[in-house]
Amino acid sequence: MSTAHQSRVRTRLRKAVTAAVVGVMTAGGLVAAAGTASAQTTLAEAAAATGRYFGTAVAAGRLGEQDYTATLNREFNSITAENSWKWESLQPSPGYFDFSTADRIAEHARQQGMEIRGHTLVWHSQLPSWVQNISSPDELRQVMRNHITTVMEHYKGQVRSWDVVNEAFEDGSSGARRNSVFQRVLGDSWIEEAFYIAHEVDPDATLCYNDYNTDAWNTAKTQAVYNMVADFVSRGVPIDCVGFQAHFNSGNPVPENYHITLQNFADLGVEVQITELDIAGWGDSQAEQFGGVTLACLAVPKCTGITVWGVTDKYSWRAEDTPLLFDGNYNPKQAYYAVLDTLLNAGGGDGGDGGGGATCTVTYAETQRWGDRFNGEVTVRAGNEAIRSWSTTVTVTPPQKISATWNGEASWDTSGNVMTMRSTSGLPAGGQTTFGFTVMTNGNWAPPTLGSCVAS
Ligand code: G3I
Repeated sequence: MSTAHQSRVRTRLRKAVTAAVVGVMTAGGLVAAAGTASAQTTLAEAAAATGRYFGTAVAAGRLGEQDYTATLNREFNSITAENSWKWESLQPSPGYFDFSTADRIAEHARQQGMEIRGHTLVWHSQLPSWVQNISSPDELRQVMRNHITTVMEHYKGQVRSWDVVNEAFEDGSSGARRNSVFQRVLGDSWIEEAFYIAHEVDPDATLCYNDYNTDAWNTAKTQAVYNMVADFVSRGVPIDCVGFQAHFNSGNPVPENYHITLQNFADLGVEVQITELDIAGWGDSQAEQFGGVTLACLAVPKCTGITVWGVTDKYSWRAEDTPLLFDGNYNPKQAYYAVLDTLLNAGGGDGGDGGGGATCTVTYAETQRWGDRFNGEVTVRAGNEAIRSWSTTVTVTPPQKISATWNGEASWDTSGNVMTMRSTSGLPAGGQTTFGFTVMTNGNWAPPTLGSCVAS
């Protein structure tokens, strides 16, 4: 199961060393290009080099958005349906199953060769009221069996891991099972019953228990889940994996002992997966925490993959926290590079520090002209590797003067003729952005000259 999976996905980073092309051309023509070596490097590839997958939650309704799908296809090799595989979506009324939206996710994964995490079979939330109102144990048992069986049969052979049971424990210090309809009507045995049914239907799938606030080792909830899993393993209940949702914010930061928690669960003999990772914040602090979670997974051989809970901040379930790896314009954030660097350092890639392989090119075009001035626009393109910053120079001919700039941080040499434009907003592999400026001609209409594009 997991071993076969790991050998399937274990690939080496593709490395393509290209000849160095460094040059400067005048603005009337083309470009300046800089580069020595390039490596196609994405989260999925960097994770695969460590024997792990790197996934994201996906909303079927966003698949028509070009940038969303391009980012998804480029960076991720595992998909979790953010909402459309939940009970209320799949079986909204008794015995009526609707797989139409869910199948779009499965079809996308199939076309792109991505794995699927099935989320989720039995959960107290996004559970239709007709299930919540059942009071007969026999009826609820039958309904649970029918739902698990029908959904797993529908996707049999397509799903690497299933969240069989989600969030069955209370928050806080009680360590108690959550007061769901399943707990009230069926008692403690309902969780293992769900696992037995799932195992009957698809013995090859990795069957997970998935929860949140189970990150710090010593909390009541972590201990309660651990004790349940230890009990299941000791009695041969078919559980293969524990999912750690990993929704972090300032009130619930990444614990320092995270890898200890993951390792302690792994020592029970189950896989561990980080299943819904997002971390509120921005900049250094967010990047550091994302790097820390990645490192914790890498430190535990049985941590087989990481899924982030969405592609872009703008569609996050808590967008105001900007908790993901790509901003609202699909630019990779510092957090992205922290994850990528951490994976590459573990996987024997080229370090991914933007050093050797980070390249960019610049192209100039005049966009507007008036009696005394013109506007210039420079397009900056990343090479085959994501870059975290870029800079280039724009040189004007005296007595020309640059009177305004936009979309970058400008600085000038002492002559005032050479402007350096830089940005620390990164670009994905092959991504592009533009900056602009106004040149007061003072009678000289020569186009400006671009320097090399320098990326890191
Ligand atoms: O699709 C409807 C739309 O038609 C309607 O106009 C709108 C108005 O409220 O609601 C839309 O549905 C929302 C749905 O997300 C899709 O956007 C639901 O209200 C909203 O409740 C639902 O939230 C989801 C949440 O689970 C529900 O519990 C989030 O997207 C989803 O990210 C979140 O995911 C959960 C995991 O499954 C389990 N772990 C925690 C995680 C975060 O809460």
